[in-house]
Amino acid sequence: MSSQQPPHAELSWDSQGLPIATTFDDVYFSKTNGLAETRYVFLAHNQLAERWQNLRDNFFTIAETGFGTSLNFLCAWQLWQQHAPTTAQLHYISCEQYPLTRQDLLQALALWPELAPFANELLTQYQILGPGIYRFQFANGKVLLTLLIGDANESLPQLDGSVNAWFLDGFAPAKNPALWQPSLFQAMANKSTVGSTFSTFTAAGIVRRGLQAAGFTVSKVKGFGSKRDMLCGIKENTISSGTTTKTPWFDRPQPLQAAQAKQALVVGAGLAGASTAEALRLRGFKVTVLDQQTAPAEAASGNPQGVLYAKLSAHLTPLNQLVNQGYRFSLQWLNNIQQQLPQQPFWSACGVIQLAFNDKEAERQQAIINSGLYPESMVQAATAAMLSQLAGTEIKYPGLFFPEAGWVSPKQLSTSLLQQPGICFIPQAEIIDIQWQADAQQWYLTDHQQRQWQAPVVVIAGGTLSNQLKASRYLKLAAIRGQTSYFPVNEISQQLNTVICGDGYLAPAFAGQHLVGATFNHHTTTVALTAEDHLLNLNRLQQLAPNCYTACQQQQPTGFTTGRVGFRCTTPDFLPVIGPLVTEQAFIETYGDLRKNARQPFTQPAPYQPGLFVTTGHGSRGLISAPLAGEILACYVTGEPMPVSHELLAALHPSRFLVKDLIKRKR
Ligand SMILES: Cc1cc2nc3c(=O)[nH]c(=O)nc-3n(C[C@H](O)[C@H](O)[C@H](O)COP(=O)(O)OP(=O)(O)OC[C@H]3O[C@@H](n4cnc5c(N)ncnc54)[C@H](O)[C@@H]3O)c2cc1C
Ligand SMILES: C[S@@+](CC[C@H](N)C(=O)[O-])C[C@H]1O[C@@H](n2cnc3c(N)ncnc32)[C@H](O)[C@@H]1O
Repeated sequence: MSSQQPPHAELSWDSQGLPIATTFDDVYFSKTNGLAETRYVFLAHNQLAERWQNLRDNFFTIAETGFGTSLNFLCAWQLWQQHAPTTAQLHYISCEQYPLTRQDLLQALALWPELAPFANELLTQYQILGPGIYRFQFANGKVLLTLLIGDANESLPQLDGSVNAWFLDGFAPAKNPALWQPSLFQAMANKSTVGSTFSTFTAAGIVRRGLQAAGFTVSKVKGFGSKRDMLCGIKENTISSGTTTKTPWFDRPQPLQAAQAKQALVVGAGLAGASTAEALRLRGFKVTVLDQQTAPAEAASGNPQGVLYAKLSAHLTPLNQLVNQGYRFSLQWLNNIQQQLPQQPFWSACGVIQLAFNDKEAERQQAIINSGLYPESMVQAATAAMLSQLAGTEIKYPGLFFPEAGWVSPKQLSTSLLQQPGICFIPQAEIIDIQWQADAQQWYLTDHQQRQWQAPVVVIAGGTLSNQLKASRYLKLAAIRGQTSYFPVNEISQQLNTVICGDGYLAPAFAGQHLVGATFNHHTTTVALTAEDHLLNLNRLQQLAPNCYTACQQQQPTGFTTGRVGFRCTTPDFLPVIGPLVTEQAFIETYGDLRKNARQPFTQPAPYQPGLFVTTGHGSRGLISAPLAGEILACYVTGEPMPVSHELLAALHPSRFLVKDLIKRKR
């Protein structure tokens, strides 16, 4: 299979070893001294050291056009460490249409030994990326990088969040006029607040006039080194565009106010609850996680092994955005957390094979490889012989190989996350009631023993039971039973190096046994293991790894006897439910006219229940969606820039079911 690669930077290196972009015939930074240029043009002319020394907010956001070699990012990170409060977070958002390959980045960053500690951390996570939005966490979650891969004129409007300082650095306007468009300046203005600043190395008239037209006050000042001029400036006021939001029901709720305590309650100690607790903990919240069971991850998340499985597509639908971007987020998240908690193994980046086990699947895989959306470092097409070598056992089909992926122990991961400082896990607490007390600005949660907990933020992460509470009963959820089967390691199976997926999956050994799964039963609530499902899993094993199957049959002629049953939580559109909850009746009254005219403009904000959120419906891909969901919810709570686009946020929003019902006149 030939593979089409996403756009990336074409570089040449000059006699001094500096990178040149051949497509644009321009330099990435000053030939005299790139480091000094960055500090002068971008850091000093946005007054970052002074602003950070006096920072009162919990976070500060920089946005940049052109990530390039990451020099600006690393310099900003270094300055942040020198001046910002240790509790605050730096959000660095960068648009990049032509990312450098990892090898080129490595070579470029070798130029700056003083940035090595920051560069090394970036390089542990950096891979060339296809189109999309990707968030990376550095410095124990205190520095967050969000890369918007694609043309800045298209990607920046999709950003959900506001920016304190802009670095305009996308090659000279004469060499790259396509970037410096009115739409870019307008998007900057839309994402700015009063006091947002910008700076740029250029003093070109088209940039000055464009920024002025978008409402920035622009100054021409002395340029770096021998350059005569550069521009910097400020947004002194926000000019309302006068238009109403087209979908106010998906607008963000008010974030937590500075006077409110950074405390949160999470109902449910599975992957979704534990991931959310982790995202809030990183932001300095004290989080209490409550579960009706006696230990964490006793429901869907209780499997000893699950696959970090990216079922990609050739189309940029919201579901595919979630899968692609969630996959990248989970990868860096798991690598980070496993590194911080090495004594508890829960993540093995052993690689994942997806078999083209029938014609339809082969066609789907070919379309993925031809789409130009995914770099080779992420997914490669391979023959059956190549896959057999990678897997360490004979494989009968060609397929795809994901070298960075692997298996996770959801049980061990959730348990480890909840043992961290800042998180308190309360078992055997079945939450039966949840009430908002406006005078105290707190939620009160009551369990079956009438015990109470209170906090200004509550996240419901109850899996299939997430709509059992009154506050969330309008969510449309269903349970799908799944059974996995286990078998002990044998001489053949112990050679298995990778996860193999087809119509199910087989994982390398963990704690002396393998896991094969999983069945899908829509209409049964049986919690006991069934012989029928064990047989289905045995057939899966035969398809995935015939030699392991034969060895297993010899070892256990009667077939599988051990395994586990769990219930996946799914939704009518197969997307998870991630976001703020509204008061159902007030929502229906506010937007009731949608029944008459679905295109009618509304001005009323959504009647949110203050500080109440949900993360559920993670279906059979919780390892991909739950960590990103935790990050999204933390950004809702604090008001930080989102790690995903407006479009995806809307597709995941809990109110989507109410809106659809109103439009279809079902309510
Ligand atoms: C058989 C099977 C195989 C799977 N394989 C994979 C895989 O390979 N890869 C993958 O990515 N995903 C896989 N999944 C899906 C993944 O496991 C789920 O998406 C994920 O575990 C969901 O996590 P959750 O936290 O939303 O739900 P759960 O793990 O179900 O957690 C919800 C928790 O909320 C608690 N709770 C609910 N209501 C209350 C209440 N009122 N008070 C207190 N506590 C409450 C429950 O006790 C439970 O502990 C699989 C799922 C199954 C069932
Ligand atoms: C001068 S370099 C940026 C240098 C970078 N800030 C650094 O610290 O190394 C300009 C970057 O802008 C990117 N770029 C050019 N046109 C773009 C566009 N329309 N959208 C997004 N990025 C673009 C280029 O690929 C290049 O990486």
